[in-house]
Amino acid sequence: MSKRILVIHGPNLNLLGEREPDIYGKVSLDKINKMLLKIAAKEKVQLKIAQSNHEGEIVDLFGKAKTKFEVIIINPAAYTHTSVAIRDAIVASGVPTIEVHLSNIYSRETFRQTSLIAPVSKGQISGFGPLSYVLALEAAIDIIKSR
Ligand code: DQA
Repeated sequence: MSKRILVIHGPNLNLLGEREPDIYGKVSLDKINKMLLKIAAKEKVQLKIAQSNHEGEIVDLFGKAKTKFEVIIINPAAYTHTSVAIRDAIVASGVPTIEVHLSNIYSRETFRQTSLIAPVSKGQISGFGPLSYVLALEAAIDIIKSR
């Protein structure tokens, strides 16, 4: 059984730790990635991690993922609320996708309370800071194991 998981971080998440720390916390993206890689190694799962500030690049990642990954974890960041292109790419890929947010998007501005991604996702985890990613990785591993 192959266990290959792709993690995609969307726009501005490269700034984690310095960007609005009262909302997104002080932990850097690098630290979150290291934490995920450590869990993946323990669980014997292959993890590829990508960050992009560009919608088309994220669409391309889904396009290439079909035969390469069993599950995709994505924090679409601001594209959560705007991107029909990423939503369509998720559907086209056919790869089960887990949506992640550090903040609880439902307790924030009205425009953040709509996710175009959630209806085409396997599930959504929102509001637990870096732990949201850990929970998503656990869910991804569970999806693979229960196949
Ligand atoms: C976010 C929430 C989005 O509304 C926002 O645009 C982000 C980060 C989160 O992880 O809480 O950039 O996806």
